[in-house]
Amino acid sequence: MSNYQQIYQRSQDDPEGFWAEAAEEIDWYRKWDRVLDDSNPPFYRWFDGGELNTCYNAVDRHVESGRGEQAAIIYDSPVTDQQRTTSYRELQSQVAAFAGVLRQYGVAKGDRVIIYMPMVPEAAVAMLACARLGAIHSVVFGGFAARELATRIDDTKPKVIVSASCGIEPNRVVEYKPLLDQAIEYSAHKPDHCIILQRPQAVAGMNAGRDIDWTTAVASAEPADCVPVAATDPLYILYTSGTTGEPKGVVRDNGGHAVAMKWSMQHVYGVEPGEVYWTASDLGWVVGHSYIVYGPLLNGSTTILFEGKPVGTPDPGTFWRIIGEHKVRVMFTAPTAFRAIKKEDPDGVYIKKYDLTNFRTLFLAGERCDPDTLFWAQDQLKVPVIDNWWQTETGWAIAANCMGIEQLEVKPGSPTKVVPGYNVQVLDEQGDEVAKGEIGTIVLKLPMPPGTLMTLWNADQRYIDSYLSQYPGYYLTGDAGFKDEDDYLWIMSRIDDVINVAGHRLSTGGMEEVLAFHPEVAECAVFGVADPLKGELPLGLVVLKSGSEIAEQVLRKELIALVRERIGPVAAFKLVTPVQRLPKTRSGKILRGTMKKIADGNTWKMPATIDDPAILDEITEALASLGYPKS
Ligand code: COA
Ligand code: AMP
Repeated sequence: MSNYQQIYQRSQDDPEGFWAEAAEEIDWYRKWDRVLDDSNPPFYRWFDGGELNTCYNAVDRHVESGRGEQAAIIYDSPVTDQQRTTSYRELQSQVAAFAGVLRQYGVAKGDRVIIYMPMVPEAAVAMLACARLGAIHSVVFGGFAARELATRIDDTKPKVIVSASCGIEPNRVVEYKPLLDQAIEYSAHKPDHCIILQRPQAVAGMNAGRDIDWTTAVASAEPADCVPVAATDPLYILYTSGTTGEPKGVVRDNGGHAVAMKWSMQHVYGVEPGEVYWTASDLGWVVGHSYIVYGPLLNGSTTILFEGKPVGTPDPGTFWRIIGEHKVRVMFTAPTAFRAIKKEDPDGVYIKKYDLTNFRTLFLAGERCDPDTLFWAQDQLKVPVIDNWWQTETGWAIAANCMGIEQLEVKPGSPTKVVPGYNVQVLDEQGDEVAKGEIGTIVLKLPMPPGTLMTLWNADQRYIDSYLSQYPGYYLTGDAGFKDEDDYLWIMSRIDDVINVAGHRLSTGGMEEVLAFHPEVAECAVFGVADPLKGELPLGLVVLKSGSEIAEQVLRKELIALVRERIGPVAAFKLVTPVQRLPKTRSGKILRGTMKKIADGNTWKMPATIDDPAILDEITEALASLGYPKS
């Protein structure tokens, strides 16, 4: 049996023994009573009775064990032309001070804090400070608009919101404060205070009494110590797109999360304490939570916090400069970043300018890694390129080539095999396992391993309805795919209306809800079309109310602006056109799948249940007016 096989088998035969052993890598104030509490299915709890503090494990214990002078965070910001290294000792004092500020403004264990910040080290400090107090953070990605932020404020009811005056995109300074003020105006719940980090690129106006200046508050703060919390207490809530405009608040615990993060850093990513690890993503996404902040810091590694883009900040050599300059051993990003670089520097001219001798492995996730991107990255970098599949809900990889266990053969297009701890099955509509090579719905057998979601915030029933009710005893991933004869997993598509744009997960249903707000729109459909750079792009077709006389150009502009204003620029919604009618089944279901196939230039069959086949000719024409299918 191979090393991977043995470890995988052990995780299945004796999950409690397996995870109890992994939990020895974490410092506990009190050991657990039960490794797995399965007394209340479908809700499972890991390390029940245990007490720990995630911040202590990510920061303080490394100072105590002699890593105080090691770099904890290297901030590299080509958009502001800055670099700043923070040692574990400095991080400890910064986090303790900011936790003191939060405490001073009333934040205690169990309270929620929203963090709406750009990619600055203070965002990581704020996350860790919440963890230090046992408060629950909810980071909101900066590319979301005020209304999205407002939804999250109303759902989490934060005591305090931590934000900054601005973020920096290559083409503009994004002022966060007006967005924050607007969101608080929209929301029914009002935070007691907002703590604002002023950045020189745009100074925010402060709201007297409510807003607190970060720097002034920290200067006089009384440092706060780590507060022991139950392993099963929530560490954070992270919202992700579901099938409607209402985002789902994924809840992560403290104990299982710390154990899974530490285990995955060593076994999946093969990173040792003291090594430099870089994830180019954003703290607003799960990849940022797990592998910019918690994973590397729980592991005692050095993490890089990058404020920039793969291209244009200033050129497609930025990634290689960072790897060379900071001696990065392992990097993690989304395939779309590599497609962006490949497009600008197909021959890898910039790669040759830097010393990449320390670089060992590249991991890609967030969307399927297309073989072209994989081959290009392998050829250029001459290191293993490893696809790994997971999602916000699981918090860490479900399938990967576990480099810390044993490197298996890479099959381009597959994220390799199931990671120890998970039991992945591919089911048909009746809930039976399909044969090898056959596509089905991918599910995870319950209980899932530590570190996966506990529930949805304040919505246990929605958690059951969204994920657990279709196949009792299993968690529905929302992905479809198959296992091949070697037990490699292949992730082929989503089974719901979620699309993946530049590695960002978006709900087309949410966009449809926004388009329906437009006074001239009677009906609409949004679906994802293939894009060579971003993987997918949303495309909208709208039917206007009868008698509408709005000019097409005006309509397009207004609809694009509406999605940008209500969801945010991250939706990348730029393709929309009016149509006379939408194709539907006789029972009234819009045929989005067929329209997507036409737009992508794939072969398609006339659906047997279509109400009026002639409509598809009109749709084909409308798509052609937007340039689809691409020639
Ligand atoms: N704050 C405000 N606006 C933001 C933002 C933020 N934090 N992040 C993105 N946006 C804006 C962008 O400026 C862009 O606005 P525009 O329409 O005015 O140009 C819009 O949101 C869409 O962003 P994006 O889809 O990221 O496109 P892009 O052209 O700016 O960059 C890539 C494309 C591929 C370079 C970029 O998406 C990338 O580096 N992705 C890979 C890494 C990653 O973050 N993966 C996520 C999960 S692992
Ligand atoms: P998110 O929750 O934003 O991380 O998005 C998760 C979804 O992105 C998954 O359910 C998949 O649809 C897709 N995804 C992420 N990583 C991969 C991968 N390596 N291969 C295929 N799809 C992926």
